[in-house]
Amino acid sequence: MSVRLGLRLRDNIYSFSSEVFSFPLECLSRHVCVFGRTGSGKSTTAKVLLFELLKNGVSALVFDRVGEFNVFDGGRVLVPGQNFRVAPLAFDGDDVAYGVEGIVSLFNNFFFTTYFCPLSPLQSRVLRDVLEGYYYRFSEVMRVSRLVEEVRVVQSRYSRVKGWVEGCEALVSRLYPFSRGVLAKVFDSSEDSLDDVLFHGLTVVDLSVLPTDEAKNFLTNVVCDRVYRLGKRLEPSNKLKLVILIDEAHNVAPSLPNYIGVLEKIAIELRKYGVSLVTVSTRPTLVSKNIIANSNLIISHSLTSNEDIRLVLNYMVNELEQESFIHVLRTLDVGEALVQANLPEYGCRAIKVKVGLPEHEHLISAKPKHASKEDSGEVDDELKKVCEQIPAYVKRILYTIACTGENITVKSLPISRRKLKEIAYAYNVIEVKGDKIILTEYGSKIAKRLLAIK
Ligand SMILES: Nc1ncnc2c1ncn2[C@@H]1O[C@H](COP(=O)(O)OP(=O)(O)O)[C@@H](O)[C@H]1O
Ligand SMILES: [Mg+2]
Repeated sequence: MSVRLGLRLRDNIYSFSSEVFSFPLECLSRHVCVFGRTGSGKSTTAKVLLFELLKNGVSALVFDRVGEFNVFDGGRVLVPGQNFRVAPLAFDGDDVAYGVEGIVSLFNNFFFTTYFCPLSPLQSRVLRDVLEGYYYRFSEVMRVSRLVEEVRVVQSRYSRVKGWVEGCEALVSRLYPFSRGVLAKVFDSSEDSLDDVLFHGLTVVDLSVLPTDEAKNFLTNVVCDRVYRLGKRLEPSNKLKLVILIDEAHNVAPSLPNYIGVLEKIAIELRKYGVSLVTVSTRPTLVSKNIIANSNLIISHSLTSNEDIRLVLNYMVNELEQESFIHVLRTLDVGEALVQANLPEYGCRAIKVKVGLPEHEHLISAKPKHASKEDSGEVDDELKKVCEQIPAYVKRILYTIACTGENITVKSLPISRRKLKEIAYAYNVIEVKGDKIILTEYGSKIAKRLLAIK
């Protein structure tokens, strides 16, 4: 069984050869990295890989941040809030202490990779106490909204103890958005259907409908955490069974020294169960070194930053050759890539490939199936542009306000009154009236857009 990637480009010959570049399916079982600047052809390459995997009967789970992978027939598309929700606080088995530890570690992972700071010892303790307290009393899975409520209770009970209020507040303000409004439809649940079905056929999780990066990261973390736990129950196997494809992987597997998150754990521990990882990213320097170093197949489209180029070449060619390949990586055309598959028949050299063969044509030109998410025409376009110009933290505030039913006090946001007034002045999206913050007409239009999960 082999994977047909594209046509081989010969050194110094600027026309395509007719030699097909293919490699054995097993090459994919030891993890894959796809790099390249925006527009260089990463997603297309990922689609070609998926096509080849499905052809070979391997299942795939795709985390699609942009909404572009719904191009395969017969795939299952999970649209959060529509046909898909998760219960982040669920665990299996009867061992509460063990289960709770797993949930605390999930949150730690999410906080670390998203906010670059792990849970403090105090926050871990509060979470652990609240979760255990709940699970010793109830058997139903706890909802995020309940968790937020109970952390608030702890917060007010220990309001005089130094550090508690701030620790709890940080916890609450980060979890709160998942318990309200549209995100509640996705995350505030006590049941879900995340089970072995993830290991069969093609499943695309369409993260593009989620309004914030935090929500995309959280959902990826929750699902991957479950895959990790389910995967460990599989029979050990030499055969590749499931490939997990993570687009924009630096968001969920960032390069943090000495840190092993859930994706690293999947990469390191699940390989012997036939689970493999494909990470796609624009900036190799931002992606977890543990994941790159554990990858056997590296596909790099063109890169521009010297730092990125050097790092990638470290993994692709020997030291003496690196200088000569810098130029190659800079000047690759769209769709062309340098591929290191460590194949003996090529002397383990990196090969230049034009990705895509005639049978992949439909993937390269494909538009995602249930087309654009923008309902109607130009008004929306303008709003979309405005939305792109507003900084992420302002969007987050608008989003929080919209989630709470537009009735929110200055104190309840993790941001100073002065800063809020600055935002009010600079962007004309909110007004600060006494203790209350309200959305302006313009602000509520934008907030509605941010909320527009369908
Ligand atoms: N192998 C290829 N052959 C032909 N065209 C390609 C190829 N890869 C990418 N393209 C073109 O470039 C565009 C951007 O590619 P894409 O894969 O979305 O890039 P990225 O994910 O790196 O941003 C595609 O819409 C397609 O038109
Ligand atoms: Mg892409």
